[in-house]
Amino acid sequence: MSFLSATLDRVKPSPTIAMNTKAGEMKAAGHDVISLSAGEPDFDTPQNIKDAAVAAIAAGKTKYTAPDGIIELKQAVCDKFKRENGLDYQPGQVSIGTGGKQILYNALMATLNEGDEVVIPAPYWVSYPDMVLLAGGTPVIAEASLQTGFKLTAEQLEAAITPKTKWLIFNSPSNPTGAGYTWDELKSLTDVLLRHPHVWVMTDDMYEHLVFDDFEFCTPAQVEPALYDRTLTVNGVSKAYAMTGWRIGYAAGPQHLIAAMRKIQSQSTSNPCSISQWAAVEALNGPQGYIEDNKALFQRRRDLVVGMLNAAEGISCPTPEGAFYVYPSIAGCVGKTSPGGAAIKDDESFATALLEEAGVAVVFGAAFGLSPNFRISYATSDQELTDACTRIQEFCAGLS
Ligand SMILES: Cc1ncc(COP(=O)(O)O)c(C=O)c1O
Repeated sequence: MSFLSATLDRVKPSPTIAMNTKAGEMKAAGHDVISLSAGEPDFDTPQNIKDAAVAAIAAGKTKYTAPDGIIELKQAVCDKFKRENGLDYQPGQVSIGTGGKQILYNALMATLNEGDEVVIPAPYWVSYPDMVLLAGGTPVIAEASLQTGFKLTAEQLEAAITPKTKWLIFNSPSNPTGAGYTWDELKSLTDVLLRHPHVWVMTDDMYEHLVFDDFEFCTPAQVEPALYDRTLTVNGVSKAYAMTGWRIGYAAGPQHLIAAMRKIQSQSTSNPCSISQWAAVEALNGPQGYIEDNKALFQRRRDLVVGMLNAAEGISCPTPEGAFYVYPSIAGCVGKTSPGGAAIKDDESFATALLEEAGVAVVFGAAFGLSPNFRISYATSDQELTDACTRIQEFCAGLS
């Protein structure tokens, strides 16, 4: 009998982390590798936020806190939801966790029983299906297509719902595609949910602030107030304020769900880091100009990458509404042979050959549930992006 838990057989390690590790090993061995696989902004946390953390240390705010967060941060979260999303929440409806990831995990652990289904639109963030499996549930993948800009349609959602469905996990703008749902597109999904009162929605709004052109972000409880009592609105400071290492995420929803999540957190991590919580108070309450500056920077990078990828033979790259990812199709490359002699059978063999032969690390689409594609994170310098896309163009031109 294995010493390890049978639960582990159900899940796989994160493929994005695996790709990063391989790229790191190649770099350490002296290879010239550009990594476009990491999902984090490439700039530093703003100074006012760092200062708030230093001040918290100096003031001795270095002890355990309430399991799901200090009241000051819960209040800042309520103010943020009111100010930016028009949503009314009280501090008792808010949970603070060690990153958005822990919040999502707590919510699934708090609600799923054996046999419960969770609808996950594909392409999806790699962790959703595995978190559902870890919590004992069954992921039901609803595949969106390139034709709809990787957005799920009402018909596809309707077809995925069964009497066993507990949650829809919704993510806009999306990791890995950058796709953002307009108000009308989201309304068509919330209309479906209105017809199925047993289904709740867990909305992952982590990339809310990274939207481009004149796209306007919206979230389910705002678009359909009748869903307020069965919506968990999840967000965090990681992406918007370049705070991935601080590990603070948050959510608001019905009080009984928040209480159940608190119970799980109190018996696992106790509480999110006290110092990071004070830093997050400053992130949410302090000056927000930083966000606008970053948007402009990311939009320029998106346009650079989309333009260069569409100029590569066999690649077709839609222009996403947000986040810092693009999800090009390599349908025109499949069936060919790489300059180094590798058969490009699918997106995994494409990504492997691209890394080994051209020194560019991307994540293959199968990891996100929709092929043949790959994900590029453009959260890196213009120079690196230009070099990487030039290498991709040369690699594709060399396919035969
Ligand atoms: C869609 C999505 N949700 C949640 C997370 C987790 O964010 P955090 O760093 O707050 O745990 C990520 C991070 O990559 C993400 O891409």
